[in-house]
Amino acid sequence: MKTPIYSQLLKHKSLDYSPFHTPGHKNNGFFPKNLFELDFTELPDTDALYEAEGIILETEKNLAKLFSAKRSIISSGGCTLAIQTMLRLASQRGKKILFARNIHRSAVNACALLGIIPKWILPKSVNGLFTGRILPEDVEREFINDTEISALYVTSPDYYGELTDIKTLSEICRKYNKLLLVDNAHGSHLAFLKENQHPIHLGADMSACSLHKTMPVLTGGAVLNIGNSEFSENAKSAMSLFGSTSPSYPIMASIDICCDYMLNGNGIADYRLLEERAAKIKALAKEYDIIQPQGLCDSTRICINTNGIENQTEFFHSYKIEPEFCDGQNAVFICTPFNTERDFQRLETAISNIKTIPQSKKDFSFELPEIKSTPREAVLAESEIIAVENSLGRISAESACPCPPGIPVIMPGEVINKNTVSQLREYKFKYITVVK
Ligand SMILES: Cc1ncc(COP(=O)(O)O)c(C=O)c1O
Repeated sequence: MKTPIYSQLLKHKSLDYSPFHTPGHKNNGFFPKNLFELDFTELPDTDALYEAEGIILETEKNLAKLFSAKRSIISSGGCTLAIQTMLRLASQRGKKILFARNIHRSAVNACALLGIIPKWILPKSVNGLFTGRILPEDVEREFINDTEISALYVTSPDYYGELTDIKTLSEICRKYNKLLLVDNAHGSHLAFLKENQHPIHLGADMSACSLHKTMPVLTGGAVLNIGNSEFSENAKSAMSLFGSTSPSYPIMASIDICCDYMLNGNGIADYRLLEERAAKIKALAKEYDIIQPQGLCDSTRICINTNGIENQTEFFHSYKIEPEFCDGQNAVFICTPFNTERDFQRLETAISNIKTIPQSKKDFSFELPEIKSTPREAVLAESEIIAVENSLGRISAESACPCPPGIPVIMPGEVINKNTVSQLREYKFKYITVVK
């Protein structure tokens, strides 16, 4: 049988690693077995995603109830599609948007596609080991200095589980009549924790949530939650600008099943138990003096600094663990109620065998590079891939993001300066796409 993808997935499954990565269902038997016999399309009795008035609309109403949103729109094209939709809707208020610099490339690309002019605000990290958060006073200053800004866009939680103070930011946005847009790709479940930290609950106008990352939903399942009814009416047409005309019914059905589990099943109780289990793991890591993100954080996300471990992937594989992400210094583990007790015990064993070397404080302060063109002009221009060594003075046609701290050192349209080159080198980037 010559089936490279299928065969490798079977091989990976046979390794029996504990899955601390997406999707949130962890292939752990959550869905009815017949889900893959239900791969239908838009038929007279199966509704249509962009003209939903039947079963899809009904599920979207359930989602809106679940997330206390004015309207919720299903995406089977991941959070990327929800982010594109959110930015399309917001850009109708104005093209200049203030972005916390730690944005995912889906937002950078959406800026290019939509002709959005980004203004950047840098997160402040306490120790340079994780991303850090933007400060409300910095946001307020930007709003006062540049009245053309129409919205603030932040990523919260970030990959490491750090939460931004959405409540305070939403008060500032309201005061200055700006929109608050939140990339909540990693935080759909925040609505169900002991303390509801979901951006919609805390006052965001719109929030893109990657359901499949932390909840039992098939990969690709996401939702745009709308907290400001000004955007409800046009949301479907905004999404149809980018989305496939063949949305996946198994993905949409998995969202429906997840919604029922949260609204009518054990979902909320399960996430509360998960918080308690994750708290024990975090406490254990603390006992072993392992550095973790501080301040307001997602209580279910485990992120540990593993300084001193040469090959992180090999280390965790030796404990039969597959992390979500290892960045050379930190390891990130996505925990959901669909992880088993055996998974958590393996993680605890690994943690208790980490011999950390005290991590020195890293300085990631950098000047924002000079802007020569908009992201749109740079991304759509003729481009070439060149060695980082030869890139001084060239205009980047892409974003390059070292992890940590997850803050791009260069964005499309910015001029590569000496600092950029040395940072790209330090973070082992070899090539960069530049405008010809
Ligand atoms: C912060 C953030 N935003 C958006 C996305 C895109 O989400 P999706 O893969 O569901 O399209 C990701 C994916 O990793 C992400 O980490």
